[in-house]
Amino acid sequence: MELSIYQLKLMREAIQDKPTVGFKIGLLGLGTVGTGTAQILLDPAQRHPLVQELELYRVGVRSLDKSRPVDLPADRFTTDLESIVTDPAVDIVVEVIGGLEPARSLMLTAIAHGKHVVTANKAAIARFGDEIFTAATKAGVYVLLEAAVGGGIPVIEPLKQSLCANRIHTVMGIVNGTTNYILTRMQTEGGDFADILADAQQLGYAEADPTADVDGLDAADKIAILASLAFGGRIKLPEVHCEGIRQVSAADIAYADKLGFVIKLLAVAKRNPQVATDPEQLQVRVHPTLIPKVHPLASVNQVNNAILVEGDPIGQVMFFGPGAGAGPTASAVVSDILNIAAILKVGRGSQMPLDGKALLDPLLACSHQHYCAIAPMDELTTRFYARFSTNDTPGVIGKLGTCFGDHNVSLESVVQTDVRGESAEIVVVTHNVREGNFHQALTEIRAMTSVNSVASVLRVL
Ligand code: HSE
Repeated sequence: MELSIYQLKLMREAIQDKPTVGFKIGLLGLGTVGTGTAQILLDPAQRHPLVQELELYRVGVRSLDKSRPVDLPADRFTTDLESIVTDPAVDIVVEVIGGLEPARSLMLTAIAHGKHVVTANKAAIARFGDEIFTAATKAGVYVLLEAAVGGGIPVIEPLKQSLCANRIHTVMGIVNGTTNYILTRMQTEGGDFADILADAQQLGYAEADPTADVDGLDAADKIAILASLAFGGRIKLPEVHCEGIRQVSAADIAYADKLGFVIKLLAVAKRNPQVATDPEQLQVRVHPTLIPKVHPLASVNQVNNAILVEGDPIGQVMFFGPGAGAGPTASAVVSDILNIAAILKVGRGSQMPLDGKALLDPLLACSHQHYCAIAPMDELTTRFYARFSTNDTPGVIGKLGTCFGDHNVSLESVVQTDVRGESAEIVVVTHNVREGNFHQALTEIRAMTSVNSVASVLRVL
């Protein structure tokens, strides 16, 4: 008979006549999320009773000299993170140091030592998920990551469990709070990106180095993870199309507003119905998008996140809430710890592979073997918004219309909005068109003498 790690622990403690203290947590990192996690673990009153069985056993920190907002004996802290992930007494390693290394190596070492892992690290999972989950499946341990996407919003577990009866066709959402905060302020104040970014940095809403957020990289990591769960395969991160919000101007936000849209950084993963030869192909992409004001995602403002899932037969469900912050993210981390503790407690978790096949709950473990095929962006069918700066001369709109028509790009609306001296601004919104055709038309339009510049190109939901 196969005994779970928890049953073995009970037996060991019974033999040694030691009381059961529950599950020992090794926490790697005591930054914002680590502190929030420690605070929940050290204050179990009125939470689920299982929280009382979690012992914050060791805490890995960068320096022992700092004063800490958590009340723990000094000997629980160490700067030797390796000693935590190899400590035989630790049951669950919680990785909240972030970044790629040493986070990846520490998680792999923990797994190799039979520890279950909870992580908030979307960057490491999006890049090294293949290696980490392959190792975890082999070792018979769980790696849970609710906090990696959407902060406190439960979305990973619903995709794995609550929605698993559905055939998912779309997962899309606003998964980056920093960019949503900047775009919301640009919308309400009419300000320019650079000014509002600088202010957001001063107020602590944007990092000193905002690259991962404003260039869409953080959202790309998150949609790669969501796509992997929704569509049951691994995603190669470099295949995720990624555009950030630096090029979104106050003018675009104002035009979008007049046309009935708001602009959001949208992360999208969906089956690509356009590719009849390969219906398994996915679109996975991040880009600023004009969203109709009546769409449920249009009213998700400030630092909030929301993820909309469409599936058969459920239809649409939307998850909304705080996408970052100590408390919300710690809520997700501790829920993962509790999921593992609950499994261990009832003896469903096993570290001992049987004939090389570990016994893991198939709804919680990630054992995907194949990579999803991602469709090239040229094959995407979508609507576009484009803004042109042109000479205010007769026939310019006609030339644009003819060029788009020649490339099978059908226009929904054409508006000449702003005439200043000799130049005019022309804004077009297309019907659904093949992206490759649209870009061919743009190449010809750029070469027209009556067109000064293609000031902006954005997709429309
Ligand atoms: N930097 C992220 C955001 C928070 O702005 O949403 C952590 O995922």
